[in-house]
Amino acid sequence: MSEEQFKAHEALVKELNDPTLRAEYARAYDNYKPGIVARVLGYILVGSGTLVYGKKPSYAKFKAIEVIARIPYQSWEVATYTLLTALYSNEERAIELTKTSQFSREAQDNETMHVVVLAQICKRLKCNGLFRHTLIPLVFALFYFWTIYILYMLSRRAALELNYLFENHAYHQYSQFLKDNGERLRDTPVYSDFLVYYGRNPRSEYELFESIRNDELVHRNRSIRELQAKKA
Ligand SMILES: [Fe+2]
Ligand SMILES: [Fe+2]
Repeated sequence: MSEEQFKAHEALVKELNDPTLRAEYARAYDNYKPGIVARVLGYILVGSGTLVYGKKPSYAKFKAIEVIARIPYQSWEVATYTLLTALYSNEERAIELTKTSQFSREAQDNETMHVVVLAQICKRLKCNGLFRHTLIPLVFALFYFWTIYILYMLSRRAALELNYLFENHAYHQYSQFLKDNGERLRDTPVYSDFLVYYGRNPRSEYELFESIRNDELVHRNRSIRELQAKKA
């Protein structure tokens, strides 16, 4: 991600801490209705997460969510690269694919930061089960990568809409977590070298989770904006 893109994203994430601005930003895509393919796959994806990690948001569930959340972006990057190999002579399509590829690279870095920081918190709190919180997400990620790759090849729309649903779920889970644990999170400092390296300096877990919640909202909205940019 370029320095300029990073700065623009960070500025937006800060702005979205304002509840009025956030509601306004979210409203543009709050009522977006994905197609049937994304809805069925989204239902299975979110449903399996609830089944394995419970309905309530928790550190351990977030770690699993973040392992999975990175995957579509990496998968899209590979899929767009594959498609560009065949479609380089169609400039319009090439621009559209390059834009998605750029978004996916920015989001990958951002999601990587989420998973590394969450892993550090889980390590400290010892909320990491080897099977449930490490092996399951890892195996699922491998399967998910190729599912999304094929889905993107068959229907770019379904792939982006599925991501919209997943990011929407993540956004609401983080919002819930902040609401339920606000006071405690405000009193909990964050220790992560990766976070400093990334360029974010939250003073507490509350600020950290606020910023992650906002990241997911940006990812959610942008997934649909990518689709609509094609129509424009
Ligand atoms: Fe994330
Ligand atoms: Fe995300």
